[in-house]
Amino acid sequence: MSSGIRFDRVSVAYGGTTVLDSLDLTVEPGEVMALLGPSGSGKTTALRAVAGFVRPAAGRVFIGDRDVTGLPPHRRGIGMVVQQYALFPHLRVEDNVAFGLKARKTPRGEIRGRVAEALGMTGMAAYARRHPRELSGGQQQRVAIARALAIRPGVLLLDEPLSALDARLRSGMLTELARLHRELPDVSILYVTHDQIEALTLADRIAVMDKARLRDVGTPQELYRAPRTEFTASFVGNANLLPVTVGSGTVSLAGTRLDVPTGDAAPGASATLCVRPHLVGLGSGPNRLSGFVGEVQWRGATHRLYVDVAGHRVMADVRELRNPPAPGDPVDLHFASEDAVLLSAGVSGGEAVGREAVGAAEGGGRNG
Ligand SMILES: Nc1ncnc2c1ncn2[C@@H]1O[C@H](COP(=O)(O)OP(=O)(O)O)[C@@H](O)[C@H]1O
Ligand SMILES: [Mg+2]
Repeated sequence: MSSGIRFDRVSVAYGGTTVLDSLDLTVEPGEVMALLGPSGSGKTTALRAVAGFVRPAAGRVFIGDRDVTGLPPHRRGIGMVVQQYALFPHLRVEDNVAFGLKARKTPRGEIRGRVAEALGMTGMAAYARRHPRELSGGQQQRVAIARALAIRPGVLLLDEPLSALDARLRSGMLTELARLHRELPDVSILYVTHDQIEALTLADRIAVMDKARLRDVGTPQELYRAPRTEFTASFVGNANLLPVTVGSGTVSLAGTRLDVPTGDAAPGASATLCVRPHLVGLGSGPNRLSGFVGEVQWRGATHRLYVDVAGHRVMADVRELRNPPAPGDPVDLHFASEDAVLLSAGVSGGEAVGREAVGAAEGGGRNG
């Protein structure tokens, strides 16, 4: 039984301050949607509106075809996992997992099987008799996930579920969550995170939030390769954002002509050119940028070069160099036309003018 989630112009306010502003967003049945944004952007509030823990000031929330805006949390058919596990410390693992089932008056005989199933899915079957304090943080989070899954929810809400774990555990849990989703293809997942790697890795689509508003939504590839706004470009991955003037089929950066897709941008207009640092090459080539090295950072597999190009700082991530240039050295950088995206000017509300770059990037499969 699959059911998607739909926000229909949902607003939430606390004491007169709007913290979620007319959110319109649909999570398709079986889809993993990441809500990605900086701290305080309204992600948790959006999730809590689905769960039923906050009441929208305006708008409706739908789960499947049902308008659940007025329903209490336990009648919404959702499972929820938050950052700090929130297990009951005095209950054994199996009783924690059974909790939602008992609350829903599930027949006793059925509870045993469901608990075993949920613990099995999260790899925690051997720990059923333990108390939470006898488990590591990662194991506690698995139990919290098992508890959410035990009620067989149509919708799973995850709020920064990995952020209390250390980096190595986090990466293992990411793999586990991806596997769980493959085992439960009908469950729609809303996954709140401020971590772009988690969003890029897990999500079918990413909704980018900033300052109470939805800024962008798209597949990870779309947002990464063809961001529509400067905010998205710099929040989903690293980006060089260079101020340029549009010509006809070209742009100019401080007098240097660059061949990039200009879409329907008007000649003479100001715009921002977005090029990912790992797609900038060192040495001469098409779309050459000449400048002077400002700083060189060795990062193991790569060198990050900061190059001053006519007063603009350009980042280039190149494969580890045997003889890296030194600060002050003159260097040339270059990039392929199809690796550039032109954003119309404006701090964060710019509209894409180079969407065709998506097709080029997806078809080409090049890499820098
Ligand atoms: N219960 C509350 N009372 C007052 N303000 C709140 C409450 N919950 C959240 N806020 C405020 O709403 C804004 C959005 O919070 P939140 O949705 O938790 O953001 P995020 O999850 O993106 O970090 C923040 O400015 C936060 O301080
Ligand atoms: Mg939050």
